[in-house]
Amino acid sequence: MQRKVDFLVIGSGMAGLIFALKVADHGKVCVLSKTTIDDTATSYAQGGIATVMYSPDNYEKHIDDTLKAGSYLNDEDIVRITVKESTGRIKELIAWGTHFDKEKSGKYSLAREGGHSEYRILHHKDNTGYEIQKTLSHKVRNHPNIEILENHFSIDLITQHHLGERVHRKRKDITCFGVYAMDRDTRNIETILSKITLLATGGLGNIYQTTTNPVFATGDGVAMAYRAKAHLENLEFIQFHPTSLYNPGEKPSFLITEALRGAGAILKTRKDEPFMKKYDDRLDLAPRDIVARAIDNEMKLSGDEFVYLDARHISREEMLNHFPTIYAKCLSIGIDITKDMIPVVPAAHYSCGGVKTDKNGKTGIRNLYASGEVACTGLHGANRLASNSLLESAVFSHRAALYSNAHFKNIGHAKNVPDWDAEGKIMNEEMILITQSKKEVQSIMSNYVGIVRSNLRLKRALDRLEIIYNETEDLYNKSVVTEPICELRNLINVAYLVIRFAQQRKESIGLHYNIDYPPKRSGDFSRRKTFD
Ligand code: FAD
Ligand code: SIN
Repeated sequence: MQRKVDFLVIGSGMAGLIFALKVADHGKVCVLSKTTIDDTATSYAQGGIATVMYSPDNYEKHIDDTLKAGSYLNDEDIVRITVKESTGRIKELIAWGTHFDKEKSGKYSLAREGGHSEYRILHHKDNTGYEIQKTLSHKVRNHPNIEILENHFSIDLITQHHLGERVHRKRKDITCFGVYAMDRDTRNIETILSKITLLATGGLGNIYQTTTNPVFATGDGVAMAYRAKAHLENLEFIQFHPTSLYNPGEKPSFLITEALRGAGAILKTRKDEPFMKKYDDRLDLAPRDIVARAIDNEMKLSGDEFVYLDARHISREEMLNHFPTIYAKCLSIGIDITKDMIPVVPAAHYSCGGVKTDKNGKTGIRNLYASGEVACTGLHGANRLASNSLLESAVFSHRAALYSNAHFKNIGHAKNVPDWDAEGKIMNEEMILITQSKKEVQSIMSNYVGIVRSNLRLKRALDRLEIIYNETEDLYNKSVVTEPICELRNLINVAYLVIRFAQQRKESIGLHYNIDYPPKRSGDFSRRKTFD
């Protein structure tokens, strides 16, 4: 079956839905979701969205904090665009119906998170992402030009390669014509042809054993873009959130928002001793790379499997008003956070790298755009500042939509695109192998490519991964295409890329910490050239 649309949006999180809404008055839009429209990392976002609201905060402070957190590997132009355009994008979210908490005075209530020098996080209790997702999906469902295909798994981007041409990575004219996507209910593989395609597939946290990311986040977008020969960047910078709830076996790991530390919660050892003073002057609100490494070190020193977050001194009223989701979740496993300390452990949380885009969300592949976590705009550099991710999606989906609207009229649909060749067989025994291989990939990445790396560990990871890669390609070539085998291939592709990017970076900086290259000094590794 072949469908033709003007705009194809792969992903129904904040990045995908904002783009869809902004192009829908110009042409026919199709939005794909791997599961259901609201099952996204966007819906999980707790802390909020960073933006400058009131004095004494100002744009320069937000820009400076973003650059400092990113160890100045950020693209400064992109940082400036993001921060300066944040006000317009936030006003738009509010106009569309998103509610952010306010003080009694009527002013917006602002939280603080690690690496921010001011209170600037707009939030809706501790479920900001869900509030935004709900607003956007309501608007999208009611737009007559937008079709939503849930349970549609994108397998591969269609390029000249599928028309039988040889496509080299250095070729300049690679074009995206749409995507092959599997309807997970019928198992049919559809050919969806589009003039413009937006990749908005979110993160890749499931290459690790422990992650805050939804289970669908297997790096499909990065893997598809890599196979289509797009330019990728910064994949060594995987952010581990310092505080996910220690609750063995739970997937995804439940996040304990950094805003709780912003409200005064303190990291402690099992012996009730605060430890962040040993690591950074900013204590518990140092940027995430520093806090996650500090916790990792404390766990190694003590042999414990977690550290504690002590929020007992925060008033019950503040807890129930601002953090009701966390309060209820912890209570459900027997922890009353107004009386008990919370056991926490770092978990893979966010990919700062991804598909390289320019300031209009364009990738190196013609007619292919990317936005949200799958993209690498240059905003985050070596480490993302907390709550800058939702903001990035809003700013660059808006820009990508404006650019697409101005340019899509001259683009035609590709002709003679063959349908997916669905030959092959799969047996139950092979399904078991797929599940097992997925666990092996996650274990390799967690053991050797985690918060602390070394050249030996990275090499070992690559050697182990190669065995699974060869077995999986062999299986893929013989099998009927199913979602588990495609996901496994994507996980392996992405794990390979993270290791290779990590091997190529011969220094410790931001989120990439390799003991063979001791950092020049702890905290921020100043590369500042244009400030002060
Ligand atoms: P997502 O919202 O993850 O959406 C991805 C979409 O792609 C989904 O619809 C999915 O179905 C679809 N998809 C994926 N693969 C395929 C495929 N193969 N075929 C079809 N569809 C596919 N950031 C902040 O700024 N502030 C916060 O407070 C915050 N808190 C967070 C808390 C948690 C627990 C997590 C996990 C992240 C948090 N983040 C936060 C990060 C932020 O939520 C994400 O980076 C952001 O929401 C990503 O948006 P997105 O639109 O790119 O992707
Ligand atoms: C959090 O609430 O701690 C997560 C914020 C983020 O990932 O930006």
